Formats: sequence, structure tokens, C-alpha cells
Amino acid sequence: MIFALDRDSHIPLYAQIATQVREMISRGALKMGDRLPANRELAKSLGVNRSTVTTAYDELMADGLISSRVGSGTYVSAVPASGSRSAERELRRPSPMPWGALLADQKRDKWLSGMTEAIVRKDTVSLAYALPAAELFPVDDFRRSVDRVLRREARGLLQLGTSDGYAPLQQYLASYMAHLGVAVEPGEILITNGCQQSLDLIRQILVRPGEEVVLENPTYPGAISVFCGQQSKYISVPVGDRGLDLDLLEDLLAQRRPKLIYVVPSFHNPTGITMDLASRQRLIELAAMYRVPIIEDDIYGELRYDGVSLPSLKSLDEYGLVIYINSFSKIGFPGLRIGWIIAPRIVIDYLDAVKQRTDLHASLLSQAAISEFVRHGLLAKHIKRCRKAYSERRDAMLAALARYFPDEAVWNRPEGGMAIWVRLPQSLNASQVLIQSMEQRVAFSPGEYFYSCSPQPNTLRLAFTMAEPSSIEEAIKRLGAVIKARLVSTKRRIEFSPKAAVKALV
Ligand SMILES: Cc1ncc(COP(=O)(O)O)c(C=O)c1O
Repeated sequence: MIFALDRDSHIPLYAQIATQVREMISRGALKMGDRLPANRELAKSLGVNRSTVTTAYDELMADGLISSRVGSGTYVSAVPASGSRSAERELRRPSPMPWGALLADQKRDKWLSGMTEAIVRKDTVSLAYALPAAELFPVDDFRRSVDRVLRREARGLLQLGTSDGYAPLQQYLASYMAHLGVAVEPGEILITNGCQQSLDLIRQILVRPGEEVVLENPTYPGAISVFCGQQSKYISVPVGDRGLDLDLLEDLLAQRRPKLIYVVPSFHNPTGITMDLASRQRLIELAAMYRVPIIEDDIYGELRYDGVSLPSLKSLDEYGLVIYINSFSKIGFPGLRIGWIIAPRIVIDYLDAVKQRTDLHASLLSQAAISEFVRHGLLAKHIKRCRKAYSERRDAMLAALARYFPDEAVWNRPEGGMAIWVRLPQSLNASQVLIQSMEQRVAFSPGEYFYSCSPQPNTLRLAFTMAEPSSIEEAIKRLGAVIKARLVSTKRRIEFSPKAAVKALV
């Protein structure tokens, strides 16, 4: 039997196989009682999954064209008269939808739920997620903001709005950006459902299949998920003590002309590193020289606990190349799903069109509620309270790390953000450490989640925002004990390995 499968076709492979068998039967190439190849055999010869052939055969069986005899094989069991539409109809019978086979070729990249699995148990101290502390949410203040906007403008808020966003929130964001040294003209702002959506919208207007995007390595997994899809390509540039490796970037820009550079210059996720002023200036100059747009993700920018504030890339940009994204997820409430993009008007026009076809606009009630909350100075008050709590939690974690982690581990002291990045000795694998630390009811994020390439299994990210200082101390104590125990056992294994034994004899 000869099949011609088109792997680029939108028709699933199982359906192509079923159609071609059906054709062979109707043109007489396969006759009543002929034996079909076994699933495994056919799958091997066609270079497809066994389940693809099984689904094709299931469909043909449901249509009554073939049947299987236990222990003997699969045979042609009906040969309809060929030609007419009614004969064609006889070849087909309604049957359950084969969803698994229809979706088999799609990439299912669930990075978010992969990470949340580590924080399921209630009795576990979670250092896994860089999320705001829910117990600090000023729920009553927020409820009053919602009540006020509903009393004032419920009918308007429950009606469909404009896709670029709720005007009062846009006005507030323009004044907020002015305070960051960025003058926003009308038409240069788009309200979105958060930075994650902003990244996806930007990808849709600027990156075509096969084009390359520069990502920091490691980086925020949601960005890896957006830019490392089936048809995208990416270039991973390492993050050093001063942020993105700019020498390497310069070589890459000269050789490969990527479409975009995505960076988190302040309190980078996951390393906590902040790009210094000179690096920020050089990055802008390089991007301007090679005319490559930069996405500046400033989601942690407001969460500085000490040190001096640095200007955003957007405020340093004289060339109009920075697309600035931010949201209320880290400084306010991630569940509201409200973020914003600041970019030149033409870019916003294109983004707005994609936003319209994606979901029309972000929730008006969420936008109005946060806008009211901000107008009464409640967000500023909340951020102040969070900064104080988070800096205490960071300090508690730093003190506990110094006390309970082995000397061979190294970590940084971020001046802000939500997490500390730890490098364990090379012999340790953080994912394996996590299994044991979960038994001790402590969760964290293994560093390998954050790499777009060359993952470093000995790294981990410890988020400090979601636990009280006393729980952080206890959790780091337990985690330190797990790591020390593993270190002793790996040292022992190395000492007693045959190679080491031979070395010791020589
Ligand atoms: C660097 C970075 N960008 C974007 C996001 C997602 O933000 P949002 O909730 O606004 O979609 C996160 C969340 O952790 C993040 O760390």
C-alpha cells in the first residue's frame, strides 16, 4: 500500500490515511477480505505515531469499511458501489469526535500550570511564585472603589467600550509615565489584559514565522512561551551581573538582524539583576544602530527597596524604538488582568487592531475600579506598604540563606523585585532537590523553567513575597538541610565512584 502524506497540510495525518484507504477500497485497489497492515507496521513505514494509524483505522471501522478479527488482523469488510454521492454517504457513519488525533500535531505549552503544580498543598510554604502577598490586598478599599464606580457609571461600564481602553485610566497612566520621564501623546497607549497579553500582541504584529527574537537567558517563562512557539525562532543571550551580555548582543545584531529584543531591565525575572545606567544607554544605542525594536518589560520597576532608581529604557530612548509594557499585576492585583503598552502611535494602531480581533477590549469594570483606586491615592498607599513588607521578607530570606545554606551555594542581593536567584554546586539538580523539599513542605521554582536554552539544573529561584519572615526563615532552614544532605550524598557518591577509586589508587 502506498500512501502520500502531506505533513504541512492542515488535514490531520490520521484523516489523510483514512481518506486514502477509503479511496483504495472504492477504486478496487483493496478488495473485500484484503488484509491491512498491522498498526505498528504501517506507523513505522509511514513514520507516524501508532495512535495516528489507530485513529485512522477506528474511523474506517466506525464507517463499517474494515473490521478486525482477534489475533488475526484488520480486513476490508465492505466495498460500497463507487461514484455517487449516496455511495459516498454510505462510506461514512456518524462517530464520536477524535479530539486527541485532531490536536495531536499542536504544541501544548502549559508553562503556567507546570509552575503552579509546586504550590498546591496548603501546609507548604511557597517560595515558588513571584506573586504579591494576598493578605496585604486592601480588600475593603478596593470594594469601595468598585462600589463608587458602579454607583456612578454602571450602565456605561457594563456596555461595550473602546478597544484602546477606559479614558480615565489612560489619562492616569499618561501622568504616571510623565512622572517616569516619558511623555505620552494621545494615541500612544493601549490598555491590555496584562504584560502576558501585551507580549503576544506585539509578537503578532512584528514577528513573522521564522523570524528571530532576542531573549535574555534565563528569562520570564511566559515570554519563552510567546516567542518560542512552533514557527518562531529565538536567540538566547546570557544575563550577567549587569544584565544582558551587550558584547554578544552587538555581534548578533550585526550578523543576524533579529526582529525584536525583549528585556526586563529592572529586577529581572528570575535573576533579580538590574541593568545599570551605562548598559541601558549602550543597549539603546546598539538597537538604534541596527534598527531593532526593544520591548522593555517594567513590571517590577516600582518594587525597589533600596539603592537609586534608574531611568527606564523608554525615558532614555531618543529614537522611538522602545515598546514599553507594564501592568498592575505585581504592584496591585494580578487577578484584575490590566496592563498597558506605550509605543509610537503607528505601533499602537496595529496593536489595537489585533487587540480588537482577540478580545475587543480589557474588562471595563476592572479598568474603572483600578482607575478609581488610583485616583484616591490608594494604589500609592498599597505600594508603600508592599515595599516595606517585601523588603523585610527579602532581608529575612537573605539572613536565613547566610545561616542555613551551604558555603558552596551563591546568591545575589536584589535591590527590589520578588525573588532571589541561587546557584547551587554543579553536582546538585534543583528539580531533584524540589522533590525532597516538597516532602519538607517547602516549594520553590527550579531555575531550569526559566531558560530558553542550555538550562542550568543547579539554579533555583526563591520568591520572598508570599510568606511572612518567620515562615521564610523556617522554610530556608528546611531547604538548607535538604541541600546539605544531598551535597553530602553526592560527595560520597563521587568519592566512591569506580573512576574516583581508580584515581585514588594511582
Ligand atoms: C517579567 C514578567 N513579565 C510579565 C509577567 C506577566 O504579567 P501580567 O500578569 O501582567 O500578564 C510576569 C509575571 O510573572 C513577569 O515576571
